[in-house]
Amino acid sequence: MKDLLRTADLSAADFKLLLDLSDELKQEPLKHYGLLAGKTVVLYFAKHSTRTRLSFETAVARLGGVPSTVGSNELQVGRGETLEDTAKVVSRYAEVFVIRTFADDDVQLVAEAASIPVINALTDGHHPCQSIADIMTLRQHWGTFEGKKLAYVGHSNNVAHSLVEACALSGIDITIASPEDYQFDPSIIANAKAIAAENGGSITVTTDPMEAVKGAHAVYTDAWISMGDAEAKWSLQVSALTPYRVTQEMMSHAAPDAIFMHCLPAHRGDEVATEVIDGPQSVVFDQAENRPHTSSALLYANRTTASKAVHETGARRGPVVVISCTL
Ligand code: CP
Ligand code: NVA
Repeated sequence: MKDLLRTADLSAADFKLLLDLSDELKQEPLKHYGLLAGKTVVLYFAKHSTRTRLSFETAVARLGGVPSTVGSNELQVGRGETLEDTAKVVSRYAEVFVIRTFADDDVQLVAEAASIPVINALTDGHHPCQSIADIMTLRQHWGTFEGKKLAYVGHSNNVAHSLVEACALSGIDITIASPEDYQFDPSIIANAKAIAAENGGSITVTTDPMEAVKGAHAVYTDAWISMGDAEAKWSLQVSALTPYRVTQEMMSHAAPDAIFMHCLPAHRGDEVATEVIDGPQSVVFDQAENRPHTSSALLYANRTTASKAVHETGARRGPVVVISCTL
């Protein structure tokens, strides 16, 4: 596999390898400095970003490379050049193409046209990079996934899709609660359930936020409206999602040592009460802190396997992740 377009692209073993690599790089961020010496990683952002952009820029710097960050309006794409032609050109310059845009189909097109690995840095449907940092954070706080339960409460969006897939790969029991009109895409749930069955986890879907949170060891939520969502939907979504706001009262139904998670940016008073996100149960800045380490792990795994593939097969580029790379 060349690209990372969604979390479920990874095998359970590769996902665990990325977690282990991320932990190791958190201990020693410059361990692989020089791996990208003289190399460029292109970061293309058609939507805003703080964490993903800065994490990848930090990760590339920690590997000794140069991040080249561009907005869609800065490239000729903004004047009508196709994404496919852009991907072919970027492939002649850079080692990896990291892309944040709207349609998942556009990232698929880029991946098909590019000869270098393409990493989805968030689309309307998925946010795989976030999900690796989320599970890394859970592992650090929980120590084990055995007997633990995660509740996702709120909008069935890109972050939630990738979180469900990451839980399925990690064997974590997750219950997701969304309003009737904002249920998860059934195909994502069916696919995640099949993956979970192989890894000892479970996925439960409900419309009742209290049922989801009851006894949970972590409670996760995200924005009620995502980048690219029609602003016109805002008032409708707010009224449907208000019962799903994570309040202190809701947290009191979770396990006493439950943590609160959010990918950020957050909207205090909407999807989460200020006292929860700024309270002692919140680990949102641990999640953000883990983003550069997971970005380094993705780039490291890619480069080491790329070299191996070039050496062994003569291929120009290798896969994003393989099971055995030298730590
Ligand atoms: N969580 C996350 O992806 O944040 P940014 O939108 O700031 O990158
Ligand atoms: N669901 C949010 C996540 C931002 C990191 C969005 O897509 O805007």
